[in-house]
Amino acid sequence: MDAKKGVKKKWDKTSRFYDWFTFMDVRGKNAKIRQEMLQEVDGKILEVGIGTGHNTQFYPPKRNIIGIDISGGMLSKAKKKALGYLGHISLLSMDAENLAFKDHSFDTIVSTCVFCSVPDPIAGLKEIRRVLKPSGKLLMYEHVLSKRLPLKFVMNLLAPLVARIFGPHINRNTVDNVKKSGMDVIRVEDVRFLDIFKRIDAIYK
Ligand SMILES: C[S@@+](CC[C@H](N)C(=O)[O-])C[C@H]1O[C@@H](n2cnc3c(N)ncnc32)[C@H](O)[C@@H]1O
Repeated sequence: MDAKKGVKKKWDKTSRFYDWFTFMDVRGKNAKIRQEMLQEVDGKILEVGIGTGHNTQFYPPKRNIIGIDISGGMLSKAKKKALGYLGHISLLSMDAENLAFKDHSFDTIVSTCVFCSVPDPIAGLKEIRRVLKPSGKLLMYEHVLSKRLPLKFVMNLLAPLVARIFGPHINRNTVDNVKKSGMDVIRVEDVRFLDIFKRIDAIYK
């Protein structure tokens, strides 16, 4: 099975219990981080890897948002949440590595806990750069490989098992990947679990 089919299959399977498994992702500090980040969205908005729609409750009202995901299972869960949003959210089945949008289409692109899962993260981030307007901004909340030695060792050790069972790669270096895609990283902030969960902002370059 190719990497894309594998990812789709894994997330379709995970969609059945994702909300239950990640209920803490939309509570407490996690909710605050998501909400603060999403207050910054502006203009034409794309959320990449929208999943089951965890972020829909945090967007400011009256926005026009397009949410894409590779997994039909995740998108079907997001449908219900999108209906509760006081604005408009269109959901589309799409691969982050091959976005069906014209160059420079979006003012804001959002990703939360996605680039741990996209099979070729640099290809996906290059696509984001392509569809971002030159004045646009990428807002990310992502988990990455810790740089602290004992933790880094354990994360590298567990990464293949976690990826096989659940899907995400817990040892990605997403800040470097954003830089490699050609975008300009303008903010990196450690927000949770030491240096693992980060807020990363980037702009078109
Ligand atoms: C950990 S979930 C995060 C979902 C959501 N963003 C959140 O914050 O809860 C990762 C999501 O990325 C999606 N994904 C993985 N690879 C993708 C790709 N190549 N294109 C689009 N979505 C992808 C998965 O289907 C899944 O919904």
